Amino acid sequence: MTKLRIHSFAISVDGYGAGPNQNLDNPLGAGGVALHKWVFATRTFREMYGGDGGATGVDDDFAARGFANIGAWILGRNMFGPIRGPWPNDAWKGWWGDNPPYHTPVFVLTHHSRASITMDGGTTFHFVTEGIHAALERATEAANGRDIRLGGGVATIQQYMRAGLVDEMHLAISPIVLGSGEALFEGINAVEMGYQCTEHVPSASATHVVLARRT
Ligand SMILES: NC(=O)c1ccc[n+]([C@@H]2O[C@H](COP(=O)([O-])OP(=O)(O)OC[C@H]3O[C@@H](n4cnc5c(N)ncnc54)[C@H](OP(=O)(O)O)[C@@H]3O)[C@@H](O)[C@H]2O)c1
Repeated sequence: MTKLRIHSFAISVDGYGAGPNQNLDNPLGAGGVALHKWVFATRTFREMYGGDGGATGVDDDFAARGFANIGAWILGRNMFGPIRGPWPNDAWKGWWGDNPPYHTPVFVLTHHSRASITMDGGTTFHFVTEGIHAALERATEAANGRDIRLGGGVATIQQYMRAGLVDEMHLAISPIVLGSGEALFEGINAVEMGYQCTEHVPSASATHVVLARRT
């Protein structure tokens, strides 16, 4: 059965998945880029952007798991880019250049409709205005038996968690504090939702934890 999986979602020690004031210069908000420091050096991250080399080990193992058996992605509109409100035009096509690292259909949740965008390398961005269940249905169909990766950000993950739809969540806790921003567990009672920590592995750069629902 198709699972909805979160991988490599980085949070600060104080629980933020992005810093404050997201904008074109700070896609992850002020100070937020440091959340991803653990992944930048990995072989998986380098390969995502056509590079070679990179570190293997715990961080790379977790990064690589996030791409195994994924047939579609779901993102929130703020993760897709810095533009808020109605799309002024069709110029913005994501942060990731002509060949984004998804290589599958990607369903972007937004209240503002927009035509789908076909990118190089098998990525197509579809904009879904009918809510989280509609996005999941479309992603499930597109994934064709494979799993769906929920990329983020926080607002999107929280909705799927509250609806009890996230099967597995790998978080990388980075050794930074952000003080403010998008708090992943704000208003979320993960215990009541049936989640428990099923794995925890430290590396030199992050503490990796996996949450899954009790079966
Ligand atoms: N730490 C990490 O590993 C990680 C991973 C991914 C992203 N991020 C960061 O997280 C930040 C974005 O997170 P975020 O919490 O601000 O926002 P988000 O979840 O990416 O997007 C929220 C926006 O998506 C649209 N949306 C969400 N749910 C919807 C629904 N049910 N129906 C229709 N539209 C819906 C709304 O946009 P509109 O109403 O404006 O259309 C909403 O304001 C970025 O800084 C990104 O870089 C961090």
